[in-house]
Amino acid sequence: MEWKRNRRKITALTAYDYTFARLLDESGVDILLVGDSAGMVAMGHENTLPVTMEEMIQHTRAVCRGATHALVVGDMPFMSYHVSEADTIQNAGRFIQEGGAAAVKMEGGTRILDKIEAVVRAGISVMGHVGLTPQSVHQMGGYRVQGKNYLDARQIRKDAMDLQKAGVFALVLEGIPAELAAEITADLDIPTIGIGAGPDCDGQILVTQDMLGMTQDIAPKFVKTFAQIGKDIRSSVQTYIDEVQSGTFPDEAHSYHLKKEKLRRVGNDSG
Ligand code: KIV
Repeated sequence: MEWKRNRRKITALTAYDYTFARLLDESGVDILLVGDSAGMVAMGHENTLPVTMEEMIQHTRAVCRGATHALVVGDMPFMSYHVSEADTIQNAGRFIQEGGAAAVKMEGGTRILDKIEAVVRAGISVMGHVGLTPQSVHQMGGYRVQGKNYLDARQIRKDAMDLQKAGVFALVLEGIPAELAAEITADLDIPTIGIGAGPDCDGQILVTQDMLGMTQDIAPKFVKTFAQIGKDIRSSVQTYIDEVQSGTFPDEAHSYHLKKEKLRRVGNDSG
């Protein structure tokens, strides 16, 4: 909230494993979200719905080992906060106790308010997420920009206000018109973190593999690719294959040696 007041933009990226977490953390990103986008990016599912608590806890543990300064937020998967308050608190608690995260993220607005309030009451920090909420992909009829008509826009604004009242410390605004995101951002005391929600949010988040150019699928309009790591991986691996097949790798510099005398003894040793 202090950064919001000082207009210091907040940076967030997704991470699912130790190696990436360490690289992103060392680069200075503020928040690492262990997103349930892991289901698509790391596990190859069509959407985020099959992701389980066990999988999310394992990813969260790995990310926490690689993060020394970034705030690690664990994304509560589909059906982990929809059944009862008791289940919800227990699952949120697992992210903190077993995963090592500092906070959890929950998708949805006014309709999951009771669950969010319960988690906050249990002393767990919650990041909200409204607008395009991928766990509701079937209800939304696909990944569509939300809040494009008056009633939807009014509901998203109400969701945001209700979530702030419920005690969330930050709010992801996904896939909504920039103008609506700007209004919500101005209305709230808590910071908004945008993804496909224009430039006026208090911070931005992207899926790391998307912004590094590693994702094979067609990216949504809001994704900017800051590198072409996918291309680099492919050409490095092709070089590796060529060198192994032509016998130029491994060379002297990448081999260990045994003195001739010792090798002879090994050869003579029948036991
Ligand atoms: O699961 C995820 O990665 C997310 C972000 C993209 C906001 O929810």
